[in-house]
Amino acid sequence: MEKETFKMKGLILSGGKGTRLRPFTYTGAKQLVPLANKPVLFYALEDLVEAGIRDIGIVVGETAEEIKAAVGDGSRFGAKVTYIPQPEPRGIAHGVLIAEPFLDRDPFVLFLGDNFIRDGIVPQVKEFRRGGMNSLIVLTQVKNPQELGVAELVDGRVVRLVEKPKEPVSDLAVVGIYMFDHHVFEAVKSLKPSPRGELEITETIQYFIDHGLEVGHHLLNGWWIDTGKMEDILEANRLVLETIKGEVKGRVDEHSTLVGNVVVEEGAEIEKSVIRGPAAIGQETRIVNSYVGPFSSIYHHCQVVNSEIEHSVILEHCRIEDMEHRIENSLIGRHVEIARSPMKPRAYTFVLGDYSRVGVL
Ligand code: TTP
Repeated sequence: MEKETFKMKGLILSGGKGTRLRPFTYTGAKQLVPLANKPVLFYALEDLVEAGIRDIGIVVGETAEEIKAAVGDGSRFGAKVTYIPQPEPRGIAHGVLIAEPFLDRDPFVLFLGDNFIRDGIVPQVKEFRRGGMNSLIVLTQVKNPQELGVAELVDGRVVRLVEKPKEPVSDLAVVGIYMFDHHVFEAVKSLKPSPRGELEITETIQYFIDHGLEVGHHLLNGWWIDTGKMEDILEANRLVLETIKGEVKGRVDEHSTLVGNVVVEEGAEIEKSVIRGPAAIGQETRIVNSYVGPFSSIYHHCQVVNSEIEHSVILEHCRIEDMEHRIENSLIGRHVEIARSPMKPRAYTFVLGDYSRVGVL
């Protein structure tokens, strides 16, 4: 029988620099990049609430206002959210350190706000609640352990964590979801900034191991995605779209065809178009005389006219018109306009932010 459950809190890290996701992170929080038209951070909140955790702290940085506007007081998710400002992104373990007044001595789930796992965290939280562990880490088998933080296991126990190992120690990557009891504070207070100037979460867990504290692990079956890199977002969007069920809340005219699982949100209009799912069309978005192909998410208040889009993520308030060729494998930020140049001489005209990428035919 399970032991009596104890109170757990949640801590989501939603600050950071987001250098790997430029140019998006110049103007917006990476945790609000939508997957299947829902910000990745919302999935973390939902996972915590589903696991019975309602008292949730969110560490915020430069993009605090944007995160607050999106999440509010958390009541929409059935949670009570407390915001914890981090003056500078000094590392994940630093996020834990500054959250001590909020966390107090309660055990908690630390969830990186740009991480996504398919199957939620209910089993992991149950295991941890059963007691006997000071920390629980979540591991998953990967093909590229040399690029990630990995765990070395001996006789089924975690004995060492290694960041981006040059020599292979295992193929088990540490997922951005961790559970800790109050010992975490003595651990993070003992840390010195790493060569990259951050307080590292891997060193925090290593402290537990080195001080004889019990570190359990949970091996994931379903997939995990760290949406911190551009390429990962298209892949994450594809994986999330594969799990959705079609639903039409907007208007689809009689000259349009929806194939497979297509979500058409409230106020969206589809005219003389073909949408082949899985795909999501956001609120108040208009698709006219166009084709939207599988694994595409078009967020709210966009206009797609006389164009074809496939395997792409388009953020809010974009206008895409009269494209001669299909747009594919693209991630397009907010308020972007792509249309034909009316002026002569015939030429491309661009207004692109830093680190933008354009592929022309
Ligand atoms: P990372 O992706 O590891 O770091 P980063 O956001 O600085 O991005 P990059 O490496 O591309 O520059 O962060 C994981 C999550 O934790 C993410 O949601 C941001 C958050 N975070 C904080 O809230 N505070 C911090 O000090 C750090 C480093 C990250």
